[in-house]
Parts: sequence; C-alpha cells; structure tokens
Amino acid sequence: MNKIVYFDNNATTRVAPEVRDVMLPFLGDLYGNPSSMHAFGGQVAKFVDRAREEVARFINADPEEIVFTSCATESDNTAIRGTADYYGKDLKVITTAVEHPAILQPVRRLKALGYETVELPVNEVGQIDLGQLEKEIVGWLGDAAGETHTALATAFGSSASPRQICGTGKRAVLVSIMWANNETGVIFPMEEIAAICQKHGAILHTDAVQVAGKIPVDVKKVPVDMLSMSGHKFHAPKGIGLFYMKKGTKLKPFMLGGHQEKVRRAGTENVPYIIGLSKACELARLGMAEEQAYLTKLRDKLEAGIVAACPNVRVNGDKAHRLPNTLNVSFEYIEGEAIAYHLSDLGICISTGSACASGSLDPSHVIRAMGVPFIAVHGSVRFSLSRYNTMEEVDYVLEKLPPVIKMLRDLSPFGPDSDPTTFK
Ligand SMILES: Cc1ncc(COP(=O)(O)O)c(C=O)c1O
Repeated sequence: MNKIVYFDNNATTRVAPEVRDVMLPFLGDLYGNPSSMHAFGGQVAKFVDRAREEVARFINADPEEIVFTSCATESDNTAIRGTADYYGKDLKVITTAVEHPAILQPVRRLKALGYETVELPVNEVGQIDLGQLEKEIVGWLGDAAGETHTALATAFGSSASPRQICGTGKRAVLVSIMWANNETGVIFPMEEIAAICQKHGAILHTDAVQVAGKIPVDVKKVPVDMLSMSGHKFHAPKGIGLFYMKKGTKLKPFMLGGHQEKVRRAGTENVPYIIGLSKACELARLGMAEEQAYLTKLRDKLEAGIVAACPNVRVNGDKAHRLPNTLNVSFEYIEGEAIAYHLSDLGICISTGSACASGSLDPSHVIRAMGVPFIAVHGSVRFSLSRYNTMEEVDYVLEKLPPVIKMLRDLSPFGPDSDPTTFK
C-alpha cells in the first residue's frame, strides 16, 4: 500500500518503538514462567513486579490492585459478571445507553437472567443526567443506604470505603459508566459520578479504555472501585488489558483455573505484553501534557477545516468535555460507509461507529442515543488521532475529503429539499 494516513486511533494504535524494544528480550531468552519455583522463572517474576508498579503509578493505584487481563473486553466482563456472580440478584446494574458492547452485552445478559438493570439515556451532546443516576441508585438501595454505609465506614475506620461494607444478602448497586466515549470522545464527569456513588454506597466501575494516555487518571482523586483499560489503545500491543480492583472490592473471578494474579485472574501471565504495557504507561505518563496540547491542535484544525469546507455538517458530542484526539462528524444526506470507503482508496483510515460494529450497516447506537436526526445519523464518521499523526496529514485529509463529500452528495437522492417523510 502507498501512503497511509491513520486517523482511526480509537480503534487501535501503532505499537510505540520503545514498547516493542522492551518486549523483545521476553520473546527471546527471558521466557521463564513467573510462577515457577526456579530462579530462571523468578527473574521474570521480578520484571513483572516492576511492570505492575509502573502500571499502578500510571493510575495512582497500589500495585496489588492491578490485575493483568487479555483485553478491556475481559476486564469489562470481569467487572460486570464477577460482581453479579458475587451479589446475585440483590444487585442492580446501572449503565448508560452509549457504552461499548463489552459492557452493554454482559449487562443485557444479566437482564435476560432476571437481574435489575438500567441503561441511562444521554442528551443531545451525549451527557447523562446525574440526578437520574442518583434516583436510580436510591430507588434500589433506599435513601438511608448511603448514610448507613458511611456510618459503618466511620465505625470500621477511615480506610474502609462505605461500599466495601456491602455484603451478600443486602441490596447492592453496580454503576458502570465509561470515562469517555469511544465514538464521540465525550468525557463523562467521573469525579461527580464517583461522589454520587460514594454518597449512596454504590459500587463504581469505569471503562477507561479511551482516556488512557489522553487525560490523567487518578483512582485516589476519582475514587472508582474498578477500572478497565486496554494496551492497544495507547501504543502497547493488542492482547493485553488491565483491570484495577480497589482493595476490598468483592467479585467472583471470571477466569478460573489457576492461582495467578492472586487468584483474581487465572492463566499464565502474558509476560512480554505486560512489559510492553508498562512501557506504554510510562510513555503516556511522561508525555501526556505535551500530547494533549498537540492532539488538540491537530483535531481543532481538522474540525475547523471540515466545517469550513463542507456544508451541512454537524459535530457530534459535548465540545466542552471531549477527548483531545477525537472528532465525530455527521455529513447530512450521505452514508458514512461510503465516505470511509472512498477515503480508504486514498489511503485515509477513519471509521463509522466502533470498529467492533463496523461490518454492520446499522447506524451507531451512540449517535442514535444522542437523538441525531435521521438525515445525519447515517453519515456519521469518526476521526481519531495519535501522537504519530502530523499537521501535514491533517492538511492531506482536508484536501481529499471535501471533493469526496461533494461527489457523494451529487449522487445522493437526499438533500435539503427532500421530502422528510421519505427518510426512514
Ligand atoms: C470504550 C471501549 N471499551 C472496550 C473496548 C474493548 O477493548 P479490547 O479491544 O481491548 O477488548 C473498546 C475497544 O474499542 C472501547 O473503545
């Protein structure tokens, strides 16, 4: 293939050369099993320990609160299914309508099994109503729950989180809300969500896949109980995830069959990828401020250029609370798939909806949940940038995109003068 302009970094990212380099010894001579009794395995275990420390530092957790998984889908399933397994039907699960399928599908499975579940709607910019979240929690736990838990936590000592006192036989609420949306980049107010959960003694999980490396994550400042991330979204390879479990969090392990990860996730550790993930965390931690400013500059230029050159476009999502690298745009009267297809011919990689959903021509559940009108919902595409993109690439896209949009509009049977009743 010739020139590739890769603007699909929310789907996956290039492995950083620094990450690849630190992994190589573990694909060579350092192949011991970290669980082995012998010194050959033991030396590898020391590297895994150090990697765990670096990963913990990235989110300001304690190393023993980090569990390595195979991907964020596994981490998300662990949070939802593991918590449900522990509490049984005393648990209510509250999530949002715009989560990734790695959350929505396990939650819908619980619903089919008879659990109480709620998918909170979002408004036109993709934000939830925090009052509604609080009502849903209180509706299950009762008004006094938060105060009772807080009183118990005080009695048990300040280190105990109120929700840790919840046990089986008592009602519990699991709130699972993504930190930022993968399609629009909309950032949810996680600090306020965490405060509501703490007040009422609800357990909080966040799918933090898309914020990794883009905005700071500090689990002490934003006290979540569980958090999921995925290495391949921030320049580590595909096939390594992390699951943060605050000390005292109660769940039944999702993967059974071994004592690894302190019996929280069975299976021999993927050592080379764990080492790679730790390097990706270090790079992200050290470069975050600079990267944020750089990505914002690229993204804003791309957005301004598109809006100036193409009529009938709308930028989707809360512009005031958005990841610096993400731009979701609806081009009215045309299909996002056709745009992505024609850009692909020019070496430009973008996506329509999440990568996992592409292949289906159904409009994105996220864009639909925001109430984007029919004329625009099908023409939604996502541009997502990384530290490896350049201003020259933005200029290239701004040169190639407008003629593609014009050509598709000229072919489209729909337009501003169409009879709206023909839109379905
Ligand atoms: C928000 C979100 N959660 C979960 C996932 C799943 O991640 P993984 O590919 O590591 O399973 C993705 C991937 O697109 C995502 O964007």
